[in-house]
Amino acid sequence: MIDKDEPEGKGPGLDKLKELFERSPIALTLADATAPDMPLIIANSAFLTLTGYGEDEVVGRNCRFLQDDLDNDAARAEVREVVRIAGQGQVVFRNRRKDGEAFDNLLFLQSLIERDGKTRFFLGSQFLLEPNVTERRIDSHLKQIDLAVARAIQAQSSLRAEQRRMLANAAHAVAHAWLALRS
Ligand code: FNR
Repeated sequence: MIDKDEPEGKGPGLDKLKELFERSPIALTLADATAPDMPLIIANSAFLTLTGYGEDEVVGRNCRFLQDDLDNDAARAEVREVVRIAGQGQVVFRNRRKDGEAFDNLLFLQSLIERDGKTRFFLGSQFLLEPNVTERRIDSHLKQIDLAVARAIQAQSSLRAEQRRMLANAAHAVAHAWLALRS
């Protein structure tokens, strides 16, 4: 019998993760940390709405395509460090939607680790950083990320996340720094 939760080469439970990401109101992406160049394997509807791309245009690609021609050297270095230590973090990227419009993307990253210690996935959540952003909106986004991570771990019992709770203070600091730069 074919187990529909185990699509070939994608590991158990990916359908379940996709389903629960789809139910989330925030943009969520999942990258395969075991595949070359960490391609996206899930991008939910909120992400597609935010970026203007279709699912088949993003799945299988590293999410850096959103940077297009824009300079993101510092942000990229920060993300590479989060990936290196299999940790978590928040970084502001300058991205472009499919129609070419630029936007500021406060990206939250969280590694999801197998019980044997290997990093299996990175969960990324994109938050549209606007000049009128409030700490309350960031906090509510963080709550949704925590919920998604908790549900992902529940759905795939072999996974765990180090330092699971997203740190509100760090996210506020990044948003404030960005606002100060913009004004
Ligand atoms: C990313 N990255 C990313 N970058 C970006 O500009 N916008 C985005 O929305 C995202 N989303 C995202 C989600 C997930 C799950 C991961 C793992 C990463 C970052 C990007 O893919 C890449 O890691 C960084 O550009 C740093 O690597 P390079 O480009 O220096 O090799």
